[in-house]
Amino acid sequence: MKESIETIKKKFNSELAAAYDLETLEKVRVRFLGKKGEITSLMKSLGQVTAEEKPLLGKELNQFKKSAEKMLEERKTELKSNTSLSLWEKERLDVTLPGKPFKIGRKHPLISVLKEMEEIFTCMGFQVVEGPDVEMDYYNFEALNIPQDHPARDMQDSFYITPDVLLRTHTSPVQIRTMEAQAPTLPVRVIAPGKVYRRDDDLTHSPMFHQVEGLVVDKGISMGDLKGTLLLFAREMFGSDREIRLRPSYFPFTEPSAEVDILCIICDGRGCRTCGDSGWMEILGSGMVHPKVLRISGYDPENVTGYAFGMGVERIAMLKYGIDDIRTFYNNDLRMLKQHQIS
Ligand code: PHE
Repeated sequence: MKESIETIKKKFNSELAAAYDLETLEKVRVRFLGKKGEITSLMKSLGQVTAEEKPLLGKELNQFKKSAEKMLEERKTELKSNTSLSLWEKERLDVTLPGKPFKIGRKHPLISVLKEMEEIFTCMGFQVVEGPDVEMDYYNFEALNIPQDHPARDMQDSFYITPDVLLRTHTSPVQIRTMEAQAPTLPVRVIAPGKVYRRDDDLTHSPMFHQVEGLVVDKGISMGDLKGTLLLFAREMFGSDREIRLRPSYFPFTEPSAEVDILCIICDGRGCRTCGDSGWMEILGSGMVHPKVLRISGYDPENVTGYAFGMGVERIAMLKYGIDDIRTFYNNDLRMLKQHQIS
């Protein structure tokens, strides 16, 4: 008797769960609670059990009957409220529909620009080298002819770790490390991309940003080589008719030094808000490697010359994609990342 109650309970539950319309539900009700229904006949057979079993089994059967009635009633209301679509219809799966496309990760726009820069220079015969982010004062300043009292050495501008160790403020220390490792072999023709750190934080400055350093040392290298290389770079990066200009400047590790501008990519030189009405945009610092820098790194400035340049990757990316807030690169706002999907 007890076992048949269990079996019928299970059967009832599964049939109820499969009743997706009112018609089927009514059939389930009749099958279990109708005059000849399974629960009804079970109640009738209560008369055959022993006197001591009777109260317990009777109670259980009664409870089951009540809950079955309740469940049927609940299911009925549920199905009635779903008259337009049966549950089955709602859950039906149309396997002929096209699937939802997977969203694939892509290169960050900043990394895309960096890779593009690397590509342009490697095509010109440059080798990609790297140096440490945590750098010694010697490489970051001393060997680059940056005197003790230079403002760049100020604790205000640099992140010092110990008095002699800091987060590099530019990629120029890689110039020294490369020459030291290679001297006196010629030619040196490298670019050094990487992160640099300065105590800056506003719309166009971030405490961490990226630079690409360039260095060429060989016999007879001139300012003309520098200009030709940078012109080619500017045209590969910003379009085949892009003009550049060199403006005299000062860096302790280059002599002479020049800042390089490109003709404004927004207004083509007519003058606009982005270029501050000058028609030109500054993209990098450069110059001929200072003889002291060559000598300290193992090259003889009487026999060889070289040029160097350093450019900000964020700056180039901002110009190229018309982004005016540097923080856009680090917020990882998916809308921006999708908008500047480059490859
Ligand atoms: N290191 C300089 C800077 O960060 C740029 C530079 C590199 C200038 C190489 C000249 C030569 O501003």
